Formats: sequence, structure tokens, C-alpha cells
Amino acid sequence: MSARDVEFRSPCALAPTAEVRENDTMSINQLVFDPPALDPMTSAPPRAVDALAAPERMRLHDISVFYDGVPAVKKASLSIHKGEVLALIGPSGCGKTTLLRTLNRLTELTPNASHSGTITLDGEDIHDLEDTKLRTRVSMVFQQPNPFPMSIFDNVAFALREQSRRRPRRRELEPLVKQALQRAGLYDEVANNLDRPALRLSGGQQQRLCIARAIANNPEILLMDEPCSALDPRSTSVIEDLILQLRNDLAIVIVTHNLQQARRIADRVAFMYIGDLVELGDARQVFEEPREERTREYVAGAFG
Ligand SMILES: Nc1ncnc2c1ncn2[C@@H]1O[C@H](COP(=O)(O)OP(=O)(O)OP(=O)(O)O)[C@@H](O)[C@H]1O
Ligand SMILES: [Mg+2]
Repeated sequence: MSARDVEFRSPCALAPTAEVRENDTMSINQLVFDPPALDPMTSAPPRAVDALAAPERMRLHDISVFYDGVPAVKKASLSIHKGEVLALIGPSGCGKTTLLRTLNRLTELTPNASHSGTITLDGEDIHDLEDTKLRTRVSMVFQQPNPFPMSIFDNVAFALREQSRRRPRRRELEPLVKQALQRAGLYDEVANNLDRPALRLSGGQQQRLCIARAIANNPEILLMDEPCSALDPRSTSVIEDLILQLRNDLAIVIVTHNLQQARRIADRVAFMYIGDLVELGDARQVFEEPREERTREYVAGAFG
């Protein structure tokens, strides 16, 4: 399987879709795993003063990840809390993407990768969960927008359909698709034609569509790997605003090379260096009073 295949398949858990009976009248809300019940218009809360006070969703304990036996991540331990934006920063090759992909078991799709340590989601070992269900609860947005070659509507509906026991009708999906597009800040721009091919959207719109697809099933954790690196400043700003809105409802772990972006949106920051989780703390503390010399040099721009 190529890397492109992995990225194409991974945002939505690919569960087998059961046959539909024409007279099946069950509501779509009964069919998706986690029916959305969120107000798309909610505004961002005041910045979390203490992210650790919020409920813990995920916990990593001594996570190491190896490629051909060589460690790319070394004994990382951290917790991820509801309502926070946790930024992973560090120089190229330090293991940020590897760590992120391990949180929803995407590294398992890399044949030469192995890992040790434990990761729990709401107290349950993620390896005890079916991988497709895990990837619905811990969904991912990639660096390059990767809409599927289908309509705007079908991109978002894809996620919902894959989680259904039967193929839901379009009119059942419409409110959920609309809500996901609204939450992703895209609806107003595409409402006049949801059947337009997704690949005709601009890069920034495509990335917001991918976010809509990733949040359609109401994940608990949203993983974002440099989601703005291919976007212009205006689209970047739109997505940053969106991240601050979305953190109301879930936890966001974002990899970014852009330290200004991390300063703008992160509640906590984790600095990685050659596979080590060197420092983890409140964003202000990491940027203004780093405890470790390597963090100090990195945030001061001495390397990276
Ligand atoms: N499939 C693979 N096989 C072998 N080594 C790999 C593989 N994927 C990543 N690596 C290595 O693992 C290390 C960490 O890579 P990773 O992509 O996680 O870094 P990163 O911090 O995300 O870097 P960047 O900022 O450039 O995206 C690097 O040394 C990289 O070369
Ligand atoms: Mg990376």
C-alpha cells in the first residue's frame, strides 16, 4: 500500500457497509457511532488557563516508535485533555509526525515500524479498540489537503456512511453534512452547490473540507499534521480561527513548524528533539521561560 493510499483511507474509518433495505426507516442518528449534538455557532471559550484541569482523553506512557529497529520516538509520556490545543514542535526529522500517527495506529500501516509502550483513550488501551473505530474517535488531517475525488457532499457523507450499518439516504445525511461544513467554516462558501467536485475547491477550502470530513463523526481527538503549511496567510488565519472554535468540543494535537502559529493557538507545547520529548508545558512557559537549554535554543531560532 502506498503512502497516498494510507492518507486516502485513513481520515475515515473504513468499516464494511451493510446492505440497505429500501423500507428501512431507522434514523441516521441511530446509525452513526457518536451523533453530533453540537452548536456549530458556538464561539471559542476564553483561553484555557490550566489545560490539565480538563478531563483527560488520551495518555501516552513510555511510547517508543522504531523504523527497522531504529528509534524515531523515545519513551514519550504525556496526556491529552479535552478542550486543549497541544502543539508538537521541533526540528525536521525529530519524530513529530511519527508520534502523531501512532496516536491512531497509522504507524501500524508502515511495514518497517514497531512500537513499545501504552496509549489509552478514555482509559482503554487503543490496541483493544478496532482500528477503524479508533480512527473515527481520533481522526486526522494531513499536511496536503486530500479530498476524495467526489463531490463536496460525498466527501463529508463518506465518513458518515462508513460508520453506518446500512446506506443512509441523502436527506438523512444532509443535516449532518451541513453541520460538519458549518463547524469547519466552509458551509457559506459552498452551500449553493454541494455537488460540485471537491477537487475544484481552492487549497484552503479543500483543507477545511478535509477538516469537515474528519470531524463529521464527532471525534474526541483531532490530529493535525502541519495543516496550514500548503496554505496562504489568509487561509491559514481561517484555519487557526477554526481550531480555536473546535477546541470547545474536542482535543486537538497539531504539529507545526510555525512557532508563531504555536504561540497563537496552543494551550500547551511539546518540544521534540531527535526522538526525545524534551519539554512539555504551558505554551507561555515553553516560549518565554523554557526549562531546557535545547528548547531555549530552538524557540530562539538558533536551529531548526
Ligand atoms: N517509513 C520510514 N522508514 C524509515 N524511517 C522513517 C520512516 N518514516 C520516518 N522515518 C524517520 O523517522 C524520523 C522521524 O520522522 P518524522 O517524519 O516523524 O519526523 P518529523 O518530526 O515529522 O519531521 P518533519 O518536520 O520533517 O515532518 C526521521 O529520521 C525519519 O527519517
Ligand atoms: Mg512531519
